[in-house]
Amino acid sequence: MKSIKDHENLDQKRVLLRLDLNVPLKNGTINDQTRIDKILPIINFLLSKNSRIIIISHVGRPKGKKNNDLSMRPVCENLEKKVNKRIKLISNDIFELKKDELFKDKDDEIIFLENIRFYNEEEKNDSSFARQLASLADLFVNDAFSCSHRAHASVCKITKFIPSFAGLQLEAELSALKKVTSEIKKPVTCIVGGSKISTKIGIIKNLIPKFNNIIVVGGMANNILNHKGNQIGKSVKEENCEKIIEEIFKTSKKHSCSITYPIDVLVGKNLNSISKVKELNEIDEDDLILDIGPKTIKKIQKVIENSKTVLWNGPAGYFENPNFANGSYEIAKAIVKKNKNKSIYSVVGGGDTIALINKINVIKDFNFVSTAGGAFLEYLEGRDLPGIKALS
Ligand code: 3PG
Repeated sequence: MKSIKDHENLDQKRVLLRLDLNVPLKNGTINDQTRIDKILPIINFLLSKNSRIIIISHVGRPKGKKNNDLSMRPVCENLEKKVNKRIKLISNDIFELKKDELFKDKDDEIIFLENIRFYNEEEKNDSSFARQLASLADLFVNDAFSCSHRAHASVCKITKFIPSFAGLQLEAELSALKKVTSEIKKPVTCIVGGSKISTKIGIIKNLIPKFNNIIVVGGMANNILNHKGNQIGKSVKEENCEKIIEEIFKTSKKHSCSITYPIDVLVGKNLNSISKVKELNEIDEDDLILDIGPKTIKKIQKVIENSKTVLWNGPAGYFENPNFANGSYEIAKAIVKKNKNKSIYSVVGGGDTIALINKINVIKDFNFVSTAGGAFLEYLEGRDLPGIKALS
């Protein structure tokens, strides 16, 4: 992998910079800025070399269609303030952009392309889209480790058409994760939660041989509860996961990995509800499971107490509503408590999980914080990440 740090001459070079500025956004407000703060070093590095920067990022999952709620504008404005420079957001059709027409204004140092996932060619890893993107610049930098598990045009295919380099944050995350996984101390516990069930459920089975304990919370836990014969009301779940769940439990027996999942829950009637503790046999048809219950918290605290390493990705509940944040906060507190007396090595990853630990101000109490969620889990699985492979 070639590093952008080793590039000999970046003066006046146009750099297509893939970032992951997929931040939690609600009504145009950014609820956590960690992913923006983490890319400031690459921006400052390129500016110090007099490069011209074209930022590419996505936010959310607009599925190939324009969606004003998922515009990059709030992120662009936030970044403008942080780097103290004007940044032009380009909403024109990418297929119509021409290299000579960008940076016409001498004061333009950074431009920002609108959400790359407004184009369905992006997720299809489309060659002509990648070629058109590449035609806008002299070189490409991937500084988005957290979306390098996606074989998308602006992460993968683009590297076929333009000299491509690894960015500073990508290198830092990769080398930290390499170190963590090679020096891991047992017992190791992996906590997997969050709402992206389809991204993560297939990964769990492959993680089992590597860990002593796997704790499943968040949306995926609903699939397990349902599989075990519990009513889960209107809660989110992924369809057609029966086979994979059976395999998860079979594999866990084979490898003596213990799987912990909720034994009680907090429910609401909608996302803005107050919470109610329920046993698994009390869940009504119109209930939504939105957090883990007090007995589950105790069980998880015990597992953490007996671990030497903990890797955590994905909140335990819908923490955006404070009535359903307790499970995630208690998990964070249990890890931090052990971290403070240096009896655990802790790694946390993912946009929502970072937002959550920032809310209770404990981000500094984890040994390593990765911006990556899905990419972090796939890396732990031992998979080649397409975006990294493309740079090699
Ligand atoms: C993330 O937040 O993990 C990355 O931005 C990837 O997002 P995705 O799961 O929507 O591909």
